[in-house]
Amino acid sequence: MAAQFTPRVFSGIKPSGGLTLGNYLGAIKRWVAMQGPEFETVYCVVDLHAITVWQDPADLRASTHEVAAALLASGIDPKTSILFNQSQVSVHAELGWIFNCIARVGWMNRMTQFKDKAGKNAEKVSLGLYAYPSLMAADILAYHATHVPVGEDQKQHVELTRDIAAKFNHDYKVDFFPLTEPVIEGPATRVMNLRDGTKKMSKSGESDMERINMLDDADTIAKKFRKARTDPDPLPGELEGLKDRPEARNLVDIYAGLSDQSPEAVLAEFAGAGWGRFKPALAELAVAKLAPISEEMRRLMADPGELDALLGKGAEKAEAISRPILQQVHDIVGFVRSRS
Ligand code: TYM
Repeated sequence: MAAQFTPRVFSGIKPSGGLTLGNYLGAIKRWVAMQGPEFETVYCVVDLHAITVWQDPADLRASTHEVAAALLASGIDPKTSILFNQSQVSVHAELGWIFNCIARVGWMNRMTQFKDKAGKNAEKVSLGLYAYPSLMAADILAYHATHVPVGEDQKQHVELTRDIAAKFNHDYKVDFFPLTEPVIEGPATRVMNLRDGTKKMSKSGESDMERINMLDDADTIAKKFRKARTDPDPLPGELEGLKDRPEARNLVDIYAGLSDQSPEAVLAEFAGAGWGRFKPALAELAVAKLAPISEEMRRLMADPGELDALLGKGAEKAEAISRPILQQVHDIVGFVRSRS
């Protein structure tokens, strides 16, 4: 009989540079929505992942605090959810090593995000960047997580996590790890760059005008939407009319994500509207949603000691779940418990 697993959510976000509207709509807002009686929720600031590319130590500390503050300000409740930073629970790195010995080089070679990030420079990037998906599998499986809410760009990594779980279970003839489900939901699972609707909005894009940062002020948000690339046509009444109009589709999806509506409902409201009407409405909505969050983020970031205490408590709770799972892995693999 298949093992039963507690319904448990795990997800992570890298503290590497500022957070964007893509992180908020694709992940953070979904994480908040999954808190409740149905799931145990475990959320992690994945600092070990951040250093796969160079991070200035002071910037890394500041980003860790920024991400923690953003999660709390957006509605992650530390009484309901476990919130911590990854480096404080060494189980992640330890299980990550074991998974490096389960995952196959051929699987890693197929990871599109590695290919995109490494580009022509594949010989010069860190070994950590290449092995990163097996650490991500360890993050998830150290908690026997059953559900992982992420944006579209992480789908392949969650599928790899399933492959690693399945191979571990098969090789050791156990039914130990769950086959985790990616949860990629809502209208904004892939928020695109404001200057090029074929590219993802990311923290590392060249120009700041490409993205909305969670800490942008109202004027900056309005300016970025005003200058966002679009086409000359008005908005259609049906989704079909946005086919081959990636920039227009993106702005409609952002509006839908921020207002908790479907893109169809947004079009029903704005059918026939030109950008002169839609863009200011979008900017106003974004400011209404983001301003209270950024204000609370600033308040929280002013007291890093308080954030550290909170993350530390979360790390203890995270350790209490994941350490016994790692110990079982040690037994399954055949490591001798010579210290206990
Ligand atoms: P990261 O830090 O790049 O992004 C964090 C989350 O934000 C989502 N996201 C987006 N969603 C929609 N549109 C966008 N433009 C956009 N940009 C980012 C990402 O999909 C992600 O959900 N490898 C992960 C972090 C990670 C993780 C994990 C996630 C480490 N361990 C375990 C889940 C489970 C990453 O680099 O995300």
